[in-house]
Amino acid sequence: MSPQFSEDDVEEEQAHFQNVVSTFQQYARYSLNANNRRRKDIHTIPLADRELLTRLGYGQKLKDVDKAILANAAFLNKIVESPEIFGHAIDADASEAGNGTPDPRSGETTHEHAHPHPHAHSHDRPTRPSDPRKGRYRPTEYDMDKLRSTIKLFVRDWSRDGKTERDLCYEPMKKALEEHFEGKDRSTLRVLVPGAGLGRLAYDVARLGFACQGNEFSHYMLLASYLILNRTQSIDEHTIYPYIHSFSNVSSRETLLKAVTIPDVLPSDLPPGSNFSLVAGDFEEIYGAEYTDENEPQAGKWDAILTCFFIDTAKNIVNYLRVLHRILAPGGVWINLGPLLWHFENNEHEYPSIELDLAEVKELARTIGFKLYDECTIDTSYSSNDQSMLGYVYHAAFWKAVKVSPAE
Ligand SMILES: C[S@@+](CC[C@H](N)C(=O)[O-])C[C@H]1O[C@@H](n2cnc3c(N)ncnc32)[C@H](O)[C@@H]1O
Repeated sequence: MSPQFSEDDVEEEQAHFQNVVSTFQQYARYSLNANNRRRKDIHTIPLADRELLTRLGYGQKLKDVDKAILANAAFLNKIVESPEIFGHAIDADASEAGNGTPDPRSGETTHEHAHPHPHAHSHDRPTRPSDPRKGRYRPTEYDMDKLRSTIKLFVRDWSRDGKTERDLCYEPMKKALEEHFEGKDRSTLRVLVPGAGLGRLAYDVARLGFACQGNEFSHYMLLASYLILNRTQSIDEHTIYPYIHSFSNVSSRETLLKAVTIPDVLPSDLPPGSNFSLVAGDFEEIYGAEYTDENEPQAGKWDAILTCFFIDTAKNIVNYLRVLHRILAPGGVWINLGPLLWHFENNEHEYPSIELDLAEVKELARTIGFKLYDECTIDTSYSSNDQSMLGYVYHAAFWKAVKVSPAE
Protein backbone atom coordinates (compact mmCIF):
# COMPACT_ATOMS: atom_id res chain seq x y z
CA MET A 1 0.00 0.00 0.00
CA SER A 2 1.32 3.43 -0.79
CA PRO A 3 1.49 6.06 1.94
CA GLN A 4 -1.55 8.31 2.10
CA PHE A 5 -1.39 12.08 2.25
CA SER A 6 -4.18 14.18 3.64
CA GLU A 7 -5.74 17.08 1.77
CA ASP A 8 -3.89 19.39 4.15
CA ASP A 9 -0.57 17.76 3.20
CA VAL A 10 -1.30 18.26 -0.47
CA GLU A 11 -2.39 21.86 0.07
CA GLU A 12 0.69 22.60 2.14
CA GLU A 13 2.91 21.13 -0.56
CA GLN A 14 1.14 23.19 -3.20
CA ALA A 15 1.56 26.38 -1.17
CA HIS A 16 5.22 25.62 -0.59
CA PHE A 17 5.85 25.03 -4.28
CA GLN A 18 4.17 28.31 -5.09
CA ASN A 19 6.29 30.12 -2.50
CA VAL A 20 9.45 28.70 -4.05
CA VAL A 21 8.35 29.87 -7.51
CA SER A 22 7.57 33.25 -6.01
CA THR A 23 11.04 33.38 -4.46
CA PHE A 24 12.63 32.84 -7.88
CA GLN A 25 10.42 35.54 -9.35
CA GLN A 26 11.25 38.08 -6.66
CA TYR A 27 15.00 37.52 -6.71
CA ALA A 28 15.65 40.70 -8.72
CA ARG A 29 13.71 43.03 -6.47
CA TYR A 30 15.07 41.47 -3.30
CA SER A 31 18.69 41.47 -4.46
CA LEU A 32 18.56 44.97 -5.95
CA ASN A 33 17.21 46.19 -2.60
CA ALA A 34 20.06 44.51 -0.79
CA ASN A 35 22.57 46.19 -3.10
CA ASN A 36 20.77 49.49 -2.72
CA ARG A 37 21.38 49.33 1.01
CA ARG A 38 25.10 49.62 0.22
CA ARG A 39 24.38 52.66 -1.96
CA LYS A 40 22.36 54.32 0.81
CA ASP A 41 25.09 53.62 3.34
CA ILE A 42 27.53 55.68 1.32
CA HIS A 43 25.42 58.72 2.15
CA THR A 44 25.76 58.12 5.88
CA ILE A 45 29.51 58.70 5.93
CA PRO A 46 31.33 62.05 5.74
CA LEU A 47 31.63 63.73 2.35
CA ALA A 48 35.43 63.47 2.34
CA ASP A 49 35.18 59.70 2.88
CA ARG A 50 32.60 59.43 0.14
CA GLU A 51 34.90 61.14 -2.28
CA LEU A 52 37.58 58.58 -1.60
CA LEU A 53 35.11 55.80 -2.34
CA THR A 54 34.18 57.51 -5.60
CA ARG A 55 37.85 57.51 -6.57
CA LEU A 56 37.96 53.77 -5.90
CA GLY A 57 35.00 53.32 -8.22
CA TYR A 58 32.89 51.79 -5.45
CA GLY A 59 29.68 53.33 -6.85
CA GLN A 60 30.44 51.90 -10.28
CA LYS A 61 30.98 48.49 -8.72
CA LEU A 62 27.49 48.67 -7.20
CA LYS A 63 26.09 49.50 -10.64
CA ASP A 64 27.89 46.48 -12.11
CA VAL A 65 26.42 44.29 -9.40
CA ASP A 66 22.93 45.58 -10.27
CA LYS A 67 23.51 44.51 -13.87
CA ALA A 68 24.69 41.09 -12.77
CA ILE A 69 21.60 40.71 -10.56
CA LEU A 70 19.37 41.41 -13.56
CA ALA A 71 21.27 38.83 -15.62
CA ASN A 72 20.82 36.24 -12.86
CA ALA A 73 17.13 37.18 -12.63
CA ALA A 74 16.64 36.62 -16.36
CA PHE A 75 18.08 33.13 -15.92
CA LEU A 76 16.00 32.40 -12.81
CA ASN A 77 12.86 33.53 -14.59
CA LYS A 78 13.54 30.99 -17.33
CA ILE A 79 13.62 28.30 -14.65
CA VAL A 80 10.14 29.17 -13.40
CA GLU A 81 8.50 30.23 -16.63
CA SER A 82 6.33 27.09 -16.86
CA PRO A 83 5.91 25.87 -13.28
CA GLU A 84 2.67 24.08 -14.16
CA ILE A 85 4.70 21.30 -15.77
CA PHE A 86 5.52 20.15 -12.26
CA GLY A 87 1.93 19.21 -11.74
CA HIS A 88 1.14 22.03 -9.34
CA ALA A 89 -1.56 24.57 -10.06
CA ILE A 90 -0.12 28.06 -9.88
CA ASP A 91 -2.27 30.82 -8.51
CA ALA A 92 -1.82 33.76 -10.88
CA ASP A 93 -2.64 36.34 -8.19
CA ALA A 94 -0.17 34.99 -5.70
CA SER A 95 2.59 34.57 -8.22
CA GLU A 96 4.22 37.28 -10.24
CA ALA A 97 6.45 37.21 -13.28
CA GLY A 98 8.99 39.77 -14.30
CA ASN A 99 9.60 42.17 -11.45
CA GLY A 100 11.53 44.56 -13.61
CA THR A 101 13.53 41.79 -15.21
CA PRO A 102 13.36 40.74 -18.85
CA ASP A 103 10.22 38.80 -19.73
CA PRO A 104 10.58 35.05 -19.47
CA ARG A 105 10.58 33.33 -22.85
CA SER A 106 8.13 30.62 -23.58
CA GLY A 107 9.54 27.13 -23.88
CA GLU A 108 8.66 23.53 -24.41
CA THR A 109 7.05 21.70 -21.57
CA THR A 110 8.27 18.16 -21.93
CA HIS A 111 9.48 16.58 -18.78
CA GLU A 112 11.77 13.76 -19.74
CA HIS A 113 14.27 13.79 -16.94
CA ALA A 114 12.26 14.77 -13.95
CA HIS A 115 8.78 13.89 -12.92
CA PRO A 116 6.61 14.74 -10.01
CA HIS A 117 6.12 11.80 -7.71
CA PRO A 118 2.90 11.15 -5.84
CA HIS A 119 4.92 11.12 -2.62
CA ALA A 120 6.73 14.34 -3.32
CA HIS A 121 7.27 16.08 0.00
CA SER A 122 9.81 18.77 0.12
CA HIS A 123 11.42 19.79 3.38
CA ASP A 124 13.16 22.95 2.29
CA ARG A 125 10.41 24.85 4.01
CA PRO A 126 10.57 28.60 4.18
CA THR A 127 10.58 29.90 7.74
CA ARG A 128 7.33 31.77 7.21
CA PRO A 129 4.74 29.67 5.40
CA SER A 130 2.11 31.76 3.70
CA ASP A 131 -1.40 31.27 2.52
CA PRO A 132 -1.41 31.78 -1.24
CA ARG A 133 -5.00 33.00 -1.04
CA LYS A 134 -3.78 36.04 0.91
CA GLY A 135 -1.79 37.54 -1.95
CA ARG A 136 1.75 37.42 -3.18
CA TYR A 137 4.24 35.65 -0.97
CA ARG A 138 7.04 37.72 0.54
CA PRO A 139 10.22 35.64 0.42
CA THR A 140 12.26 35.58 3.59
CA GLU A 141 16.04 35.84 3.86
CA TYR A 142 15.96 32.05 4.41
CA ASP A 143 14.20 31.53 1.06
CA MET A 144 16.63 33.84 -0.75
CA ASP A 145 19.55 32.08 0.87
CA LYS A 146 18.27 28.79 -0.58
CA LEU A 147 17.99 30.42 -3.98
CA ARG A 148 21.48 31.94 -3.83
CA SER A 149 22.88 28.52 -2.83
CA THR A 150 21.10 27.02 -5.83
CA ILE A 151 22.79 29.55 -8.11
CA LYS A 152 26.18 28.57 -6.65
CA LEU A 153 25.41 24.88 -7.02
CA PHE A 154 25.17 25.36 -10.79
CA VAL A 155 28.89 26.03 -10.64
CA ARG A 156 29.57 22.72 -8.83
CA ASP A 157 27.45 20.60 -11.12
CA TRP A 158 27.29 22.21 -14.53
CA SER A 159 30.25 24.51 -15.13
CA ARG A 160 33.88 24.09 -16.13
CA ASP A 161 34.83 25.90 -12.92
CA GLY A 162 33.21 23.08 -10.95
CA LYS A 163 35.34 20.39 -12.53
CA THR A 164 37.96 20.28 -9.76
CA GLU A 165 35.27 19.72 -7.14
CA ARG A 166 33.44 17.18 -9.29
CA ASP A 167 36.65 15.31 -9.96
CA LEU A 168 37.22 15.00 -6.22
CA CYS A 169 33.67 13.94 -5.37
CA TYR A 170 32.08 12.24 -8.34
CA GLU A 171 35.07 10.62 -10.04
CA PRO A 172 35.99 8.21 -7.17
CA MET A 173 32.33 7.20 -6.91
CA LYS A 174 32.00 6.57 -10.65
CA LYS A 175 35.28 4.67 -10.70
CA ALA A 176 34.13 2.47 -7.81
CA LEU A 177 30.86 1.81 -9.64
CA GLU A 178 32.60 0.85 -12.86
CA GLU A 179 35.03 -1.43 -11.04
CA HIS A 180 32.29 -3.21 -9.13
CA PHE A 181 30.44 -4.08 -12.31
CA GLU A 182 33.38 -4.57 -14.63
CA GLY A 183 32.42 -6.67 -17.64
CA LYS A 184 28.67 -6.50 -16.89
CA ASP A 185 25.99 -5.12 -19.20
CA ARG A 186 25.53 -1.68 -17.65
CA SER A 187 22.18 -1.00 -19.27
CA THR A 188 20.58 -3.67 -17.07
CA LEU A 189 22.08 -2.31 -13.85
CA ARG A 190 19.90 0.08 -11.83
CA VAL A 191 21.72 2.84 -9.98
CA LEU A 192 20.05 5.17 -7.49
CA VAL A 193 21.42 8.59 -6.51
CA PRO A 194 19.43 9.89 -3.52
CA GLY A 195 19.71 13.62 -2.79
CA ALA A 196 20.76 14.20 -6.38
CA GLY A 197 20.96 18.01 -6.06
CA LEU A 198 21.25 19.53 -9.52
CA GLY A 199 21.62 16.08 -11.06
CA ARG A 200 25.16 15.97 -12.41
CA LEU A 201 26.32 12.79 -10.68
CA ALA A 202 23.15 10.94 -11.74
CA TYR A 203 23.54 12.27 -15.28
CA ASP A 204 27.20 11.20 -15.43
CA VAL A 205 26.25 7.72 -14.26
CA ALA A 206 23.59 7.48 -16.98
CA ARG A 207 26.16 8.67 -19.47
CA LEU A 208 28.38 5.75 -18.45
CA GLY A 209 25.57 3.51 -19.68
CA PHE A 210 23.93 2.53 -16.36
CA ALA A 211 20.19 2.85 -15.84
CA CYS A 212 20.21 5.71 -13.36
CA GLN A 213 17.56 7.33 -11.21
CA GLY A 214 18.22 10.46 -9.18
CA ASN A 215 15.97 11.34 -6.27
CA GLU A 216 15.57 14.84 -4.89
CA PHE A 217 12.98 16.60 -2.75
CA SER A 218 13.92 20.26 -2.85
CA HIS A 219 11.78 22.32 -5.20
CA TYR A 220 14.72 24.68 -5.69
CA MET A 221 16.85 21.79 -6.97
CA LEU A 222 14.07 20.17 -8.99
CA LEU A 223 13.07 23.36 -10.79
CA ALA A 224 16.69 24.29 -11.50
CA SER A 225 17.83 20.87 -12.72
CA TYR A 226 14.78 20.59 -14.93
CA LEU A 227 15.86 23.60 -17.00
CA ILE A 228 19.38 22.31 -17.47
CA LEU A 229 18.47 18.68 -18.12
CA ASN A 230 15.47 19.16 -20.35
CA ARG A 231 15.69 22.53 -22.01
CA THR A 232 19.34 23.11 -22.76
CA GLN A 233 19.95 23.89 -26.40
CA SER A 234 23.70 24.44 -26.34
CA ILE A 235 26.81 24.28 -24.21
CA ASP A 236 27.46 27.57 -22.34
CA GLU A 237 23.90 28.68 -23.08
CA HIS A 238 23.50 30.58 -19.80
CA THR A 239 25.71 33.09 -18.03
CA ILE A 240 25.33 33.52 -14.29
CA TYR A 241 27.06 35.60 -11.64
CA PRO A 242 27.19 33.35 -8.58
CA TYR A 243 29.44 35.45 -6.34
CA ILE A 244 27.77 38.88 -6.32
CA HIS A 245 25.64 38.33 -3.24
CA SER A 246 28.26 38.87 -0.58
CA PHE A 247 31.02 41.47 -0.49
CA SER A 248 32.86 39.64 2.31
CA ASN A 249 36.19 37.89 1.72
CA VAL A 250 36.33 39.09 -1.88
CA SER A 251 39.82 39.50 -3.26
CA SER A 252 38.99 41.73 -6.23
CA ARG A 253 36.20 43.21 -8.31
CA GLU A 254 36.86 40.56 -10.97
CA THR A 255 36.23 37.73 -8.52
CA LEU A 256 33.04 39.39 -7.24
CA LEU A 257 31.70 39.86 -10.75
CA LYS A 258 33.01 36.62 -12.19
CA ALA A 259 30.71 35.30 -14.91
CA VAL A 260 30.22 31.54 -15.11
CA THR A 261 28.74 29.89 -18.15
CA ILE A 262 26.66 26.74 -17.96
CA PRO A 263 26.31 23.96 -18.85
CA ASP A 264 29.72 22.56 -19.75
CA VAL A 265 28.09 19.58 -21.48
CA LEU A 266 24.96 19.06 -23.50
CA PRO A 267 22.67 17.11 -21.15
CA SER A 268 20.71 15.60 -24.04
CA ASP A 269 23.96 14.03 -25.18
CA LEU A 270 23.25 10.61 -23.66
CA PRO A 271 23.97 7.32 -25.38
CA PRO A 272 21.01 5.98 -27.42
CA GLY A 273 18.64 3.92 -25.28
CA SER A 274 19.82 5.56 -22.06
CA ASN A 275 17.66 5.17 -19.03
CA PHE A 276 17.85 8.29 -16.87
CA SER A 277 15.18 9.72 -14.60
CA LEU A 278 14.81 12.06 -11.66
CA VAL A 279 12.15 11.27 -9.12
CA ALA A 280 10.82 14.07 -6.94
CA GLY A 281 10.08 13.29 -3.31
CA ASP A 282 11.39 12.29 0.06
CA PHE A 283 13.92 9.46 -0.05
CA GLU A 284 12.45 7.68 2.99
CA GLU A 285 8.88 8.04 1.80
CA ILE A 286 9.59 6.78 -1.71
CA TYR A 287 12.20 4.10 -1.20
CA GLY A 288 11.39 3.17 2.39
CA ALA A 289 7.69 2.61 1.90
CA GLU A 290 6.56 -0.83 2.99
CA TYR A 291 5.09 -1.78 -0.35
CA THR A 292 6.26 -2.86 -3.72
CA ASP A 293 4.46 -1.30 -6.60
CA GLU A 294 4.91 -3.07 -9.92
CA ASN A 295 6.16 0.13 -11.48
CA GLU A 296 8.35 1.06 -8.57
CA PRO A 297 10.10 -2.02 -7.40
CA GLN A 298 12.29 -1.03 -4.46
CA ALA A 299 13.24 -3.81 -2.05
CA GLY A 300 16.43 -5.49 -3.22
CA LYS A 301 16.12 -3.91 -6.65
CA TRP A 302 18.90 -1.32 -6.77
CA ASP A 303 22.22 -2.69 -8.00
CA ALA A 304 24.07 0.36 -6.79
CA ILE A 305 23.28 3.32 -4.58
CA LEU A 306 25.50 6.39 -4.66
CA THR A 307 25.15 8.74 -1.70
CA CYS A 308 27.19 11.90 -2.19
CA PHE A 309 26.94 14.48 0.61
CA PHE A 310 23.62 12.88 1.47
CA ILE A 311 23.56 10.63 4.54
CA ASP A 312 23.89 13.56 6.93
CA THR A 313 20.55 14.91 5.68
CA ALA A 314 18.90 12.23 7.82
CA LYS A 315 16.78 13.05 10.81
CA ASN A 316 17.12 9.41 11.78
CA ILE A 317 20.26 7.91 10.30
CA VAL A 318 19.20 4.46 11.52
CA ASN A 319 16.23 4.53 9.17
CA TYR A 320 18.31 5.90 6.27
CA LEU A 321 20.73 2.99 6.63
CA ARG A 322 17.91 0.48 6.99
CA VAL A 323 16.29 1.77 3.78
CA LEU A 324 19.61 1.67 1.92
CA HIS A 325 20.13 -1.89 3.11
CA ARG A 326 16.62 -2.99 2.19
CA ILE A 327 16.65 -1.60 -1.34
CA LEU A 328 20.18 -2.69 -2.29
CA ALA A 329 20.19 -5.81 -4.44
CA PRO A 330 22.17 -8.85 -3.36
CA GLY A 331 25.60 -8.44 -4.99
CA GLY A 332 24.99 -4.70 -5.27
CA VAL A 333 27.16 -1.92 -3.95
CA TRP A 334 26.53 1.17 -1.84
CA ILE A 335 29.10 3.87 -2.48
CA ASN A 336 29.25 6.77 -0.05
CA LEU A 337 31.14 10.03 0.03
CA GLY A 338 30.48 12.89 2.36
CA PRO A 339 30.90 14.58 5.72
CA LEU A 340 28.61 14.39 8.74
CA LEU A 341 27.17 17.87 8.79
CA TRP A 342 23.92 16.79 10.40
CA HIS A 343 21.36 18.93 8.62
CA PHE A 344 18.80 18.82 11.38
CA GLU A 345 21.17 19.51 14.28
CA ASN A 346 19.66 22.37 16.33
CA ASN A 347 16.85 22.84 13.80
CA GLU A 348 14.13 25.33 14.69
CA HIS A 349 11.25 23.10 13.70
CA GLU A 350 11.61 20.59 16.52
CA TYR A 351 12.35 17.77 14.11
CA PRO A 352 14.21 14.97 15.83
CA SER A 353 17.85 14.62 14.84
CA ILE A 354 20.18 11.71 15.60
CA GLU A 355 23.77 12.88 15.30
CA LEU A 356 26.29 10.05 15.32
CA ASP A 357 30.03 10.35 14.85
CA LEU A 358 31.70 8.66 11.90
CA ALA A 359 32.82 5.61 13.87
CA GLU A 360 29.24 5.15 15.11
CA VAL A 361 27.77 5.49 11.60
CA LYS A 362 30.13 2.82 10.32
CA GLU A 363 29.43 0.51 13.24
CA LEU A 364 25.69 1.00 12.74
CA ALA A 365 26.03 0.19 9.03
CA ARG A 366 27.85 -3.04 9.91
CA THR A 367 25.20 -3.94 12.49
CA ILE A 368 22.45 -3.37 9.94
CA GLY A 369 24.15 -5.81 7.58
CA PHE A 370 26.72 -4.02 5.42
CA LYS A 371 30.33 -4.95 4.95
CA LEU A 372 32.38 -1.79 4.42
CA TYR A 373 35.58 -1.80 2.42
CA ASP A 374 37.97 0.57 0.62
CA GLU A 375 37.35 3.11 3.37
CA CYS A 376 39.30 6.33 3.05
CA THR A 377 39.12 10.08 3.53
CA ILE A 378 38.84 12.47 0.59
CA ASP A 379 39.58 16.14 1.18
CA THR A 380 37.15 18.22 -0.83
CA SER A 381 35.19 21.44 -0.82
CA TYR A 382 31.47 21.76 -1.45
CA SER A 383 30.14 24.51 -3.70
CA SER A 384 33.24 26.57 -3.00
CA ASN A 385 34.64 29.63 -4.70
CA ASP A 386 38.34 29.01 -5.05
CA GLN A 387 39.01 32.72 -5.49
CA SER A 388 37.41 33.65 -2.19
CA MET A 389 39.54 34.73 0.78
CA LEU A 390 37.63 32.15 2.80
CA GLY A 391 37.77 28.46 2.00
CA TYR A 392 36.97 25.31 3.86
CA VAL A 393 37.68 21.68 3.31
CA TYR A 394 35.65 18.65 4.28
CA HIS A 395 37.55 15.53 5.25
CA ALA A 396 34.84 13.50 3.59
CA ALA A 397 34.39 9.81 4.35
CA PHE A 398 34.42 7.45 1.40
CA TRP A 399 33.46 3.81 1.46
CA LYS A 400 32.02 1.02 -0.59
CA ALA A 401 29.68 -1.43 1.07
CA VAL A 402 28.01 -4.68 0.17
CA LYS A 403 25.12 -6.44 1.81
CA VAL A 404 26.27 -9.36 3.91
CA SER A 405 23.19 -10.17 5.95
CA PRO A 406 19.59 -9.15 6.01
CA ALA A 407 18.72 -6.46 8.53
CA GLU A 408 16.75 -7.76 11.49
C1 LIG B 1 24.27 18.50 0.45
S1 LIG B 1 23.21 18.29 -0.91
C2 LIG B 1 24.14 17.20 -1.98
C3 LIG B 1 23.67 17.26 -3.41
C4 LIG B 1 24.49 16.40 -4.38
N1 LIG B 1 24.45 15.02 -4.02
C5 LIG B 1 25.90 16.91 -4.47
O1 LIG B 1 26.82 16.19 -4.07
O2 LIG B 1 26.09 18.04 -4.94
C6 LIG B 1 21.99 17.19 -0.25
C7 LIG B 1 20.81 17.07 -1.17
O3 LIG B 1 19.92 16.09 -0.67
C8 LIG B 1 18.59 16.58 -0.79
N2 LIG B 1 17.80 15.89 0.24
C9 LIG B 1 17.92 16.04 1.58
N3 LIG B 1 17.09 15.22 2.23
C10 LIG B 1 16.42 14.53 1.27
C11 LIG B 1 15.41 13.54 1.31
N4 LIG B 1 14.93 13.09 2.47
N5 LIG B 1 14.95 13.04 0.16
C12 LIG B 1 15.44 13.48 -1.04
N6 LIG B 1 16.39 14.43 -1.13
C13 LIG B 1 16.88 14.95 0.00
C14 LIG B 1 18.72 18.07 -0.58
O4 LIG B 1 17.62 18.78 -1.10
C15 LIG B 1 20.02 18.36 -1.30
O5 LIG B 1 19.80 18.65 -2.66
